[in-house]
Amino acid sequence: MNDKINLIINEASLFEAKTAEDAESFRLKFLSKKGILNQLFEDFKQLPNDQKKTAGVKLNELKEFLNTKYNDLKSNLSEQTDSASKNDLSLPGDPFTLGSRHPISLVRNEINEIFGKLGFTVSDGPEIEDDWHVFGALNFPPEHPARDMQDTFFIEKNPDILLRTHTSSVQVRVMEKTKPPIRMLMPGRVFRNEAISARSHCFFHQIEGLYIDKNVSFADLKQTLLFFAQEYFGSETKIRLRPSYFPFTEPSAEMDISCSCKGKGCNLCKYTGWLEILGCGMVDPNVLENNGIDSKVYSGFAFGMGIERIALLKYQIKDIRIYSENDVRFLKQFSSEI
Ligand code: DAH
Repeated sequence: MNDKINLIINEASLFEAKTAEDAESFRLKFLSKKGILNQLFEDFKQLPNDQKKTAGVKLNELKEFLNTKYNDLKSNLSEQTDSASKNDLSLPGDPFTLGSRHPISLVRNEINEIFGKLGFTVSDGPEIEDDWHVFGALNFPPEHPARDMQDTFFIEKNPDILLRTHTSSVQVRVMEKTKPPIRMLMPGRVFRNEAISARSHCFFHQIEGLYIDKNVSFADLKQTLLFFAQEYFGSETKIRLRPSYFPFTEPSAEMDISCSCKGKGCNLCKYTGWLEILGCGMVDPNVLENNGIDSKVYSGFAFGMGIERIALLKYQIKDIRIYSENDVRFLKQFSSEI
């Protein structure tokens, strides 16, 4: 058996493979079920016991040798085809998949750009805040329900450290470190202790706007927001301001834009012809004074809008949860221009 094995090793070592078929014929001849190696293992069973030990060692060596040789043949082949394809300039290139921006980033960038035309610059502040910046400095009375455990995620109590519930906290940060005139846009993530559903989430994004100077009036606020609405939703867009209440603005309003159904009534506007998009108002003099700005000299306006809501209107998205599900089928529909 020894001699036979030596002969086979000799024959196999001279084998060369130029094509995949050559390598396959090696496998068939030596390594397949009916191949030489298996036949030898069959013969091995018939050997007298005293020869089995040495023949067994030799047979295993042969098996090892044939397997290594077969793998070498195959890897030489794939190296050859690799270098052949590298040299072939007519082959198509490897596809290069471009990512796309998240719709929330797209909308945020577009809004930043529109207000940028009016001289607004962008600023940000911390997501983990204290009570003063989120509520106190913004004129929230101590028992205001928004401070309740139901809305706010508290990290520590006494002194209160919490996740900001709105980007209005950044107004305070900006007023602390900037002297008027101030024209600032403050986008960011906010957190509220709300049940997750198609319409609400425990985290979402807002953009806050703040404008403080001498002689700023409600008419300036109105014109600024009309400019934004027409730039973003189209030049036909109308706006409507409804009186509202926020502790940090006086007077306060909520702004609606005309629906693209042009008053005919549709599902999106619930047959009202109007879509609510933001809260706004004249900065309450208490807020200015809380932040060291003389309310007799300066006045200003502020506004805040939810980015998810604006994106929802723009792209007709039905379920707010889809923004944070990371489903590539959804995400890759958005262009990456801005
Ligand atoms: N902070 C408000 C909210 O989260 C939105 C808001 C309303 C911001 C009026 C403002 C404003 O700056 O003037 O609902």
